[in-house]
Amino acid sequence: MQITQPEIQSYISNLTAHLCPELEELERQTYASIPMPNMLSGKEQGMFLHQFVSALNPKLVVELGTYTGYSAICMALAMSEDSKLITLDVNEEISHLPKKYFQKLNLENRIEYRLEEALPFCESLADNSVDLAFIDADKANYPNYFHCLKNKIRPGGFILVDNILWSGQVLDEKPDNRTKAILKTTEAMFTEFGWKCSILPLRDGVLVGVKSS
Ligand SMILES: C[S@@+](CC[C@H](N)C(=O)[O-])C[C@H]1O[C@@H](n2cnc3c(N)ncnc32)[C@H](O)[C@@H]1O
Repeated sequence: MQITQPEIQSYISNLTAHLCPELEELERQTYASIPMPNMLSGKEQGMFLHQFVSALNPKLVVELGTYTGYSAICMALAMSEDSKLITLDVNEEISHLPKKYFQKLNLENRIEYRLEEALPFCESLADNSVDLAFIDADKANYPNYFHCLKNKIRPGGFILVDNILWSGQVLDEKPDNRTKAILKTTEAMFTEFGWKCSILPLRDGVLVGVKSS
């Protein structure tokens, strides 16, 4: 199921530009040479992430799931010189693309790209140290990511969770295991004391959660 009606999606897409020519090039290269290119955030979600980070002015952002780096670049382009985005992925085979574009856009000082498992990294973070986390890695671990990150986010900080509507599979009568993990995360975030949440039907659905100050 497409979350937004195709005609409305085209209308929005025609209005929205990539933040810079390099991102358009990165999207093209991803679609031409990397498996599962629909994992890339794309210009509409990329613009939303950019605006969100711009408004929050975070010092530390953590992204779980770099893929080819599109969303990391959109967020990093909104961050100040003294801030840091740590982005993690386990897929070394595609790492040449994010590395190439982080360098091309002079973002290597702002983006720390790590090829490592997301969960142990999250566990290693200090409590209340993160301004924003973007969860976009393996769906089966989504509940674990939230469970761990809720203590790592500072009061007033945010967690964004991608694919929260999972192409409409969240409505399935017999959801598969990955859908169950997404549903579990949504329920945990919406019912967790001290968190306020909403869902944006943007692309595949983005859950926005803020921790009470
Ligand atoms: C949906 S893609 C990320 C898309 C990217 N954030 C963007 O918007 O362009 C998910 C990525 O998570 C990575 N991943 C899967 N399991 C992981 C894990 N346990 N730890 C870190 N990354 C993981 C995959 O290799 C894949 O590149």
